[in-house]
Amino acid sequence: MKKVRKAVIPVAGLGTRFLPATKSMPKEMLPVVDRPVVQYAVDEAFEAGIEHIVFVTGRNKAVIEDYFDLHPELIGTLEQSGKTAQLQALESLLPVAGATSFIRQQSPQGLGHAVWCAREVIGDEPFALLLPDMVSFGGRGCLAEIADLYAQTGGNVIAVERCDPTETSKYGIVGCGADVGTGFEVTAMVEKPAPANAPSNYYINGRYILQPEIFSLLGNQQRGAGNEIQLTDAMVRLAQNQAFFAQPFNGCMFDCGSKEGFIQANVAFALSRDDMKEAVFDMLQEFVRTHERRVEAA
Ligand code: G1P
Repeated sequence: MKKVRKAVIPVAGLGTRFLPATKSMPKEMLPVVDRPVVQYAVDEAFEAGIEHIVFVTGRNKAVIEDYFDLHPELIGTLEQSGKTAQLQALESLLPVAGATSFIRQQSPQGLGHAVWCAREVIGDEPFALLLPDMVSFGGRGCLAEIADLYAQTGGNVIAVERCDPTETSKYGIVGCGADVGTGFEVTAMVEKPAPANAPSNYYINGRYILQPEIFSLLGNQQRGAGNEIQLTDAMVRLAQNQAFFAQPFNGCMFDCGSKEGFIQANVAFALSRDDMKEAVFDMLQEFVRTHERRVEAA
């Protein structure tokens, strides 16, 4: 079985749900506590053993490439002012030289098209895909969990979570077959189905390990939901010839592409940090008490 060495992180999306903040700043650079959203996906990938990350970018995203570069002026200033802890923290976040590539998706045509843009850099080997809007919280990191199942099964493995049955039209939804290890066989995949047409309420949560044959399928994939080239539609065709498994995630994903998910992520990560949890907990309690008083008075 070939090792999964490379990961694709698509960062070309327009972020219209976060306007006006995303008018001049990529949505992937919005901070969850003090790190940009994209940093969480990069950490998760390297922690799962990935050696090289391919970012699929677009216009107005150059700041993401700069973020993963050295910043000599900042380093000089931190050195001069003796801020060694901050300097070390910054350096620990930097990928080693040569561990990143940046590919342009010249026009937004959907997730399937963005992934297809990475085909030359990935080549003929299995790869991971992380959608950075979905920020992994708890568990061992979602990619590490699906990599464990992949080590037993090979083939293709995606991570899933349960969603509210009324919300299936927001996601790709899978059908459940026989149990395999800690996961199960995928019997169907439907992109954004109405609840009546959803094969279950297990949704694809944004972490994938895929075989390279997906690229030729994406190359001739017809447009699907939202008139976009959908990755899920190409995965359906891949599953006709290859094994396909799903692994329920033991933590949870915060959808930082939505305002509610973004706020949830900020609160959850702040409450998980020793340097902040007490102050944030007290603040939340105070907010709730004030809110309740307002509701009672109304
Ligand atoms: C994409 C995928 C979908 C998946 C979702 C997770 O949709 O197409 O299958 O469930 O990410 O966030 P998007 O959010 O790009 O519409």
